[in-house]
Formats: sequence, structure tokens, C-alpha cells
Amino acid sequence: MKPRVSVALLFPSLWFFAACHADVLVAPLAIRSAEMKTPSAEQTDLARHASTSFREALYAARYESLPNVRQLLTAAYLENPSDPEVALLLGHAHLWTLSERSRVGDEVGPEITDHALLAEHYFGEASTLAPEDDRIPGWQGGARLAIGDIHDDQRATRRGYFQLREAVRAYPAFNGFSAGFVLSSQDRDSDRFAEAVELFWTNLAACAGDDRIREDLDYRGVSSRATTTGRLRVCWNTELVPHNFEGFFLAMGDVLTKAGDVANAERAYRAAMLSPDYDGWRFAPVLEARLANLDERVAAFAAAADPGEEPAMMFGSDYACTGCHAR
Ligand code: HEC
Repeated sequence: MKPRVSVALLFPSLWFFAACHADVLVAPLAIRSAEMKTPSAEQTDLARHASTSFREALYAARYESLPNVRQLLTAAYLENPSDPEVALLLGHAHLWTLSERSRVGDEVGPEITDHALLAEHYFGEASTLAPEDDRIPGWQGGARLAIGDIHDDQRATRRGYFQLREAVRAYPAFNGFSAGFVLSSQDRDSDRFAEAVELFWTNLAACAGDDRIREDLDYRGVSSRATTTGRLRVCWNTELVPHNFEGFFLAMGDVLTKAGDVANAERAYRAAMLSPDYDGWRFAPVLEARLANLDERVAAFAAAADPGEEPAMMFGSDYACTGCHAR
């Protein structure tokens, strides 16, 4: 018997076929010509309240306030999805949740990893609303690296990695740290870890305004450059980041310790003490313990068979954010 394919049956599938092919042509254009989100100038009361709650929690290192703070920021975002500050702080609220998760201890659940996705998403929104803010690609690139790692997705990893490199080129004095910090968790003998070390030096040279700082890490002469305004404010302590300087050098000392560069690790840790705010820094005892055990720590890094056995670093610690941001 001859198979009987009814014309009526064929027609809808032909239609469907044609429509699909039209989409292939039309979709990219339709998407690209849609209006981009633009920032709104007004701030709602809820947005002000949510932003203040977030900043106060960060200054006080109140990690336990994060569920409430995230709820407030999310509500403010939904009320006005075009508020650049709310989008940025919401990204940071998720990043903080993820980064200092060791505060929760062993009870941390697997869904903590979702905060990487949410951070990446809201940094993307923030970047659309404030494309001139060169800091955001550094934060988003870091979130993408985390996503690549969590989801075992090489494409996400590479997207994050190249976004970070681009971000460093755009703003070395800030994103050198953002990129170096996240890459500092890579295996000690990997190219990526060597790059993390290099990124800290890149950041330092940009802040010092002099490449020779690489040969002689002596920051005493650099202190006269301190400023709270302009692009280089991110190298110093400001109202927004009260212990940036100390936190940067703690992180750099850790990276150099892991690299086995004892002399420069010691210089980096000691540079933190040049800060006029050092005495009021709650993590000064952490830094002093690092200095007191420098040789043991260098040896322990060298002897560790895998990253799980390595001594603690600022990255991955419960002061990965508050080390710079807490008052
Ligand atoms: C080495 C110090 C350091 C560490 C560690 C650090 N930050 Fe920051 N952070 C900075 C600096 C510097 C700025 C930029 C300040 C500026 O633009 O004036 C900043 C900016 C911010 C802002 C303000 C954005 C704005 O414009 O209002 C937030 C929020 C923030 N960081 C959250 C975090 C979170 C969350 C972490 C942990 C994942 C973290 N930071 C880790 C130094 C640090």
C-alpha cells in the first residue's frame, strides 16, 4: 500500500519550517533593535532604605543581615529595575553571600552556589545602566569565573577570564586587584596563578605611578600620592572603603607567600602598617600572625599536595569582603 501523506498534514509543518527560518533572519535584528534599559534618575524611598541597610551591614561586617538585605534590595529592584545603584548593590549582596560563606561553616547548603548566578546577573544589569563604570566588568568577570568553576563550564570560565583581562586594561589600579584576587585561588604552579601574582604587581604599579615599585616594594615614598578623589582613589582608604589599603596588602602578602616570594610577602604585609588607619583595623591581628608565621606558611604552601591542604588566605576567608569594607 502506498503511504498516504495528507496535504493537510504537510501544510502546517511547512508553515512551521518557513516560520523558523524567518526567525533565524529576523531574531538577531529584532533583539538588537529593542531599546536598551536606561538608568532612571529618581530613587524610591525603598531604594534608599535598602541601599543604606546594605552599606551599614557591610561596614559592620553583619553577614547575618544578608537575607534581610537581599530581600530589601530585591524588592527595591522590582519596584524600579532601572536604578543603577540598587542593581549594583544587589549584585554585591549576592557576591558577599557567596564569598564569605565560610562564616556559615559546615551547614552551608549547595544552593549557596546560586548566588554566583545572581551576582553575575545583577552586575550585568548594573553595567547596562552604568556602562561608564569600569569597575563593574571586574566584578562580573569574577562572578563568571565562579560560575564556570561551579558548573564545570569551560566557556563561562573563558568568558570570565577574558572579561577580567579587558577590565584590567581599562582600569588597572582597580581591576588588577579584582582579577588577581579571584585568580589567586588557582593551583600554585599553574600559569593562572602566576598571572594572579603579576596582576597584583600591575595594580601596585598603577597606584604607585611607577613601574620600579616591582623591583623595590617600598611604599613610604608613595604615601604622598594618597587621594580620596579621581580614578586613583581606589588605591587608598576612603569613606566608601575604610580599610582598602590594609586589605589590599594583606591579600597581596598572601599571594606572594603562596608564590614562595618571602621577601616581597614580608614587604607587602609591612606596607599595610603604613596606613594611618592601621590601628583601627579589626584584622590587624590576622596580618601580624601572617608575619609571625611567614616561613612556616611559605613551607606549608610548598608542601601542600592540593589546595585543600594550603594555609588560609584572605580570598575564601570570612573577611574576603569585610577585610577592606568593615569599619
Ligand atoms: C582590597 C580591598 C577590597 C576588597 C577585599 C573588597 N573590596 Fe569592595 N571595593 C574596594 C574598592 C577600592 C572599591 C571602589 C571604591 C570606589 O570606587 O571609590 C570597592 C567598592 C565596593 C562597593 C561599592 C560600590 C559603590 O560604588 O557603591 C561594594 C558594594 C563592594 N565593594 C563590595 C565588596 C564585596 C561584596 C566584596 C567581597 C566579595 C568586596 N567588596 C571586596 C575594595 C575592596
